[in-house]
Amino acid sequence: MEYTKTIKLKDGRECVLRNGTRGDAEQELELFRQTHGQTDFLTSYPDEISYTVSQQAEYIEKKRNSPDEIELLAQVGDRIVGLGGLDRIGWAEKTRHRGEFGVCIDRDFWGLGIGRALTLAVIECARLAGYSQLELEAVADNGAALALYESTGFTEYGRNPRGFRSRLSGWQELVLMRIELE
Ligand SMILES: CC(C)(COP(=O)(O)OP(=O)(O)OC[C@H]1O[C@@H](n2cnc3c(N)ncnc32)[C@H](O)[C@@H]1OP(=O)(O)O)[C@@H](O)C(=O)NCCC(=O)NCCS
Repeated sequence: MEYTKTIKLKDGRECVLRNGTRGDAEQELELFRQTHGQTDFLTSYPDEISYTVSQQAEYIEKKRNSPDEIELLAQVGDRIVGLGGLDRIGWAEKTRHRGEFGVCIDRDFWGLGIGRALTLAVIECARLAGYSQLELEAVADNGAALALYESTGFTEYGRNPRGFRSRLSGWQELVLMRIELE
């Protein structure tokens, strides 16, 4: 899927939301590793992320050419500062109406409106791609993320008390959320 939008951040700067290109692969990978070290709320640790730049470039191409999945990046100046993704949960007839949303933003750029813009962009893409439902999981202690998701229309449908096992804090409860799109 293709998507491009320019937004104004809360501090007045411009931020471009767009598909990545092969040339963004190195910076994307660096951001992915960096963000996964900045918070204990994401699914993996930086030392578990083993993609090479060329694998990341392939991934970017695959998502760009996909009719129903997307990886969006948020760029401020020449810096990639956030990523938002839409993935199909399953290809079988019974599950292909379900999409999954994920987002990560460089901590230096939190609180500026990028998370909201990426979330709304992915919801729009999911609608365009024909999904009936978009889903996500968030750590129950991640108040900022939960507030963002609730304010963009997601509702909780359950909890997984042992969803993550953190190196730092042990079990982390996950809140399961969804939004109906049609
Ligand atoms: C959660 C995250 C995506 C929010 O992105 P962001 O760009 O900082 O959020 P925004 O500036 O767009 O704010 C959107 C909403 O989030 C909530 N929010 C953001 N920061 C908050 C904070 N410090 N405390 C409480 N709520 C907060 C608010 O509801 C806010 O709405 P408002 O602008 O009307 O106040 C970002 O903090 C992040 O990437 N965190 C690390 C990775 C992560 O947790 N990803 C989600 C995994 S489920």
